[in-house]
Amino acid sequence: MAEESLTVRDNRTGKEYVLPITNGTVPAPKFRDIKTGPDDFGLMCYDPALNNTAVCKSRITYIDGDKGILEYRGYPIEQLAEKSTYLEVAYLVLHGELPTSEQLKQWIHDITHHTIIHENIKRFIGSFHHDAHPMGILCGTVGAMSTFYPSAKNIEDSECRALQIRRLIAKMPTIAAFAYRHSVGMPVVYPDNDLSYTANFLSMMNKMTELKYQPDPVLVRALDVLFILHADHEQNCSTSAVRVVGSSRVDPYSALAAGIAALYGPLHGGANEAVLRMLQEIGSKDKIPALIRKVKAKEALLMGFGHRVYKNFDPRAKIIKVLADQVFDRVPRNPLLDIALELERIALQDDYFIQHKLYPNVDFYSGLIYQSLRFPVDMFPVLFAIARTSGWLAQWEEMILDEKEQRIARPRQVYLGAKRREYVAIEKR
Ligand code: CMC
Repeated sequence: MAEESLTVRDNRTGKEYVLPITNGTVPAPKFRDIKTGPDDFGLMCYDPALNNTAVCKSRITYIDGDKGILEYRGYPIEQLAEKSTYLEVAYLVLHGELPTSEQLKQWIHDITHHTIIHENIKRFIGSFHHDAHPMGILCGTVGAMSTFYPSAKNIEDSECRALQIRRLIAKMPTIAAFAYRHSVGMPVVYPDNDLSYTANFLSMMNKMTELKYQPDPVLVRALDVLFILHADHEQNCSTSAVRVVGSSRVDPYSALAAGIAALYGPLHGGANEAVLRMLQEIGSKDKIPALIRKVKAKEALLMGFGHRVYKNFDPRAKIIKVLADQVFDRVPRNPLLDIALELERIALQDDYFIQHKLYPNVDFYSGLIYQSLRFPVDMFPVLFAIARTSGWLAQWEEMILDEKEQRIARPRQVYLGAKRREYVAIEKR
C-alpha cells in the first residue's frame, strides 16, 4: 500500500518535508516547519473563503457535492424527508442515533414544555419598530436570551447544555411567531401543547379568534419536511460562525445569535427571500431572457442557483420540487411557480450555467412553498433559522466536546499594509 504521506520540496532551499496524510488532509500547522532560515515565520496556507480547508472533524452530516448526496448521521435525506418528522430528525442530528419510541416521546414532551418565553422577552420583541426585519429581531432576541439564562455559560456541564438545547429548539418558533405578530400589530398567540412542533408554529403565526387552530395536515407536513431539509448542512457559513464564536467558550445563545446573523445574508439563508423578490420582479416569462443576459454579463446573480459544494444537483431542491406539487394540490398554485420553472428550464440549457455547474439550490423553490403557506417573504430566512437550530446546536456541542482539538478559532493573515513608520504630529500631516 502506498505511504499515507506527502513529500513537499521547497525550491527556495532545496529541502524536502514529509507531511502525514490523515483522512485525506495534511495538517496545516506542519507547513510552519517549512522555512528559509531561523528568522523566517514559516509557510502558511492562504485560503480566504476556506474553500479547501477542513476546520474540524465531524460525525454529523455527510455531503458528496458531485453526486448530490446529503446524509444526517448516515441516513439519506430522501428517506428522512419521506419517513421522519422534524423533531425526530433534530434528535438524530443532536444525539447521533434515531430515538426509540420512549426516547422520542420524552423528547417531544421536553420540547413542547419549553415553548413559552419569558414575558420580558416578549416585551423586548415588542420594542422593535413595526417594520423591523424578523431576522434582525430573531438575532437580537436570541442573543439577549443569554441574559435571561446566565447559567447557560456553564458549557462544560452536560445537563446544562441539554437544557439550553431544549430551550433553543422549543423557543425559536415562539420568538419567530411573536416577531411576526408584532410586525403586523396583532396580539401574540401562546403555544398550544396539543399541537405538533410545526402545527403549533402555524397556530402561533395564524390563529385569529377561533378557540382552537386547526391546521391543514398536508401543509403541516410540508413545513415539517422543509424543516427536515434545513436541519443541518455541515460547515456552511452560519455553522462556521457558530463554531468560531462558540470556540471562545461563550454561551450557546450568543454563539447562535452569530449563526443567525450569518444566515441572514442574501448569499446564504437570505437567498430564499431574494429568490422570491427576484421572481416578483421578473413578473412574466417573457422577461426571463433579459435577466439571463444580465446574469451572464455578471450584472446580477441568479438567486437560488449555485452552491459551493453541490456541483451537480442539490438533493434538497429535488425533494422540494415534489413537495411543491403536493402543496399546490391543496392551495392555489403560486403563479410565480411557472416563472421559476421556465427560468430553471432556460438556465439549465444555457452554456454559462452548464459550464459554471449552476443548478437550483434549496432556496430556489422553498420560498414559493413558504409563500403559499401564507408566510410573508421576510419570514423566509427565519424559517430556515428555526430548522437550522438543531444543526447549529449539534455542531456547537460536537466542538465543545472535542477536547483534544478544540481551541479558540484564530486564523492568520497575509499582512500587506504599511511598513513600520514614525507617528506624524497632526500639524505636520
Ligand atoms: N448566478 C450567476 N453566476 C453565478 C451564481 C449565480 N447564482 N453563482 C455562482 N456564479 C458564478 C460566479 O460568478 C463565478 O463565475 P466566474 O468563475 O466566471 O467568476 C462562478 O459561478 C463560481 O461562483 P462563486 O461565487 O465562486 O461560487 P461560491 O462557491 O463562492 O458561491 C454561492 C456559492 C451559493 C454563494 C453562489 O453560487 C451564489 O451567490 N448563489 C446565489 C445565492 C444563493 O442562491 N445562495 C443560497 C445557497 S444554498 C442555501 C444555503 O446553504 O445557504
